Amino acid sequence: MCGIVGYVGDGDATRVLLSGLNQLEYRGYDSAGIAVSDGEDEICGDGEDEVCGDGGVDANGGVSSDGAGIDVRKRAGELENLEAAIESGAPTGSVGIGHTRWSTHGPPTDRNAHPHAGETGAVAVVHNGIIENYRALKEALVDAGRTFESDTDTEVVPHLIEQALADGADPETAFRRAVSQLEGSYAIVAVFEGVDALFAARNDSPLVLGVGDDGYHVASDVPAFLEFTERVVYLEDGETVVVRGDGATVRNGDGDVVEKAVTTVDWDVEDTGKSGYDHYMLKEIHEQPTALRQCLSGRVNELDGTVELPEVDGVPAPSTVHLVACGTSYHAALVGAARFREAGTPAQAFLASEYAVRTPPVGDALVIGVTQSGETADTLAALRAARSRGARTLAVTNVVGSSAARECDDAVYIRAGPEIGVAATKTFTSQVVSLSLLVERLAGSATGSEASRERLAALRDLPGLVQQVLDESAAAAVAEAYVGRDGYFFIGRGPNHPVALEGALKFKEITYEHAEGFAAGELKHGTLALVTERTPVIAVVTGDDAAARKTVSNVKEVEARGAPVIAVTDGRAGVAEYADHTLALPDAHPSVLPLLANTQLQLVAYHVANRLGRSIDKPRNLAKSVTVE
Ligand code: AGP
Repeated sequence: MCGIVGYVGDGDATRVLLSGLNQLEYRGYDSAGIAVSDGEDEICGDGEDEVCGDGGVDANGGVSSDGAGIDVRKRAGELENLEAAIESGAPTGSVGIGHTRWSTHGPPTDRNAHPHAGETGAVAVVHNGIIENYRALKEALVDAGRTFESDTDTEVVPHLIEQALADGADPETAFRRAVSQLEGSYAIVAVFEGVDALFAARNDSPLVLGVGDDGYHVASDVPAFLEFTERVVYLEDGETVVVRGDGATVRNGDGDVVEKAVTTVDWDVEDTGKSGYDHYMLKEIHEQPTALRQCLSGRVNELDGTVELPEVDGVPAPSTVHLVACGTSYHAALVGAARFREAGTPAQAFLASEYAVRTPPVGDALVIGVTQSGETADTLAALRAARSRGARTLAVTNVVGSSAARECDDAVYIRAGPEIGVAATKTFTSQVVSLSLLVERLAGSATGSEASRERLAALRDLPGLVQQVLDESAAAAVAEAYVGRDGYFFIGRGPNHPVALEGALKFKEITYEHAEGFAAGELKHGTLALVTERTPVIAVVTGDDAAARKTVSNVKEVEARGAPVIAVTDGRAGVAEYADHTLALPDAHPSVLPLLANTQLQLVAYHVANRLGRSIDKPRNLAKSVTVE
């Protein structure tokens, strides 16, 4: 998804912007660009409206321009294309904006890449989101004699700003006037010719400020400026901001100055680097024990079998629970829904994109949005649909200050740390554990019982057990044995069904090979026709209850058709007898075995993708945070 970075200060803007764009690459993009201005003129004023920093802006945001010029460079494709384009002469200046684009209007070309300038070169703009009324705005601008260069919705913004400037408005007024005409979702940052400031606005698309020692940063995501500062100001929908090298002034939609708190994030640059692993995904798979310890820290009282989650102290025990989510988070939601039901609370997981358009009666349901990024448009739309019908909403998310966290009535953080790889790994595990804690805390019948104490003890042991799987896994050898087959089927029953779905999603996402996940009993109702000796079946079988024994029968069915079988098992149901390979799970409580199996499947997907030379951290066509519906 698109990424924004902006900088104004004493440093070299081009260097800061390129560093930020590198950090944002994980969001997925198809073109990139920067615009740098000399920004020689100070914004005049006495600092009265200051909300952070010690600079100033006058009541009208008054500026003057000397026509110093904005240097815009942009290229389709990877960031290295942009870097090559500036090799022979980088733009110089102390204020600038940068962007990684993921196409929504018009193909990925140099012309459609951001930043977009208007006709005069007085302003350049980067934008995330979708301007829904851009056609009407464009028509009016064209009727007024303006010429457009690109196919994008974004280009209306610099034209609107230029129009306001031509009418005599100062940059801040021109920027605010342009933004007030936009409908849809946007995070926008503009740079003006000869002006030592950035102008930014957000609505339904994330935007944060970074308060550095030698300048201020603007970005769609904190990692973009973590190299320079950990001090962050979160902007809200409807706010605009004038950012100078020594301060920023935030205004609400009415133009009133808003006081903003500066938060210090506890992520550091090392957290967003690969720490010696070949890929972020592998690093993040191996970070799971640490992430789980962070998730559980201070939340579990094993002795009395209770969970402390002060975040939900005000939330009454729900009569019904709806969980809304997408992709991997949906698989975590399936696990969460099953756990609520086991604890006696009716619960159902919904695909957020469906829930948003066909919202079921919410009654007095608690609606939980499960989203690692907290910015997934489908999930936000589902949560908004629930809220508009009067439901209480709760976000289970990894990103403090994300849209989901801010919009919901309550938020529980999964504390997994930044996840850079597009494929969700440690966040899935931490989502499942967070939801398990929520069940223990909110589902009345769960709390304090012997069974609850056993489940909490199992969660305490989980980080060590995941470490054991990571240390002893034979996934690399299994990957080597089965790389390059016609297709891959993942099966599991009961609690292992979401694991099968997640195993298949992870596998196809990064290997680009066909994979499907099934409830083990479903395969014989059609898909068995596709099973051959060239389609490995990966069967997750844990415990030795009736469900496990039935899954063993399903394994025999595929084995009889010549399919190679890889059993992911704790060995209790005897499935290894029918398997060509086994990925062993340690002896553990039934409630955590599915997560241990999932760790094995993450490793299988990783090693097959690595063997095939795939773009593991940034799979083709995919983005880390999907901010359009
Ligand atoms: C997971 O590997 C995928 N990249 C994707 O399915 C993801 O889980 C989904 O887009 C939801 O994202 P979220 O958790 O940030 O809402």
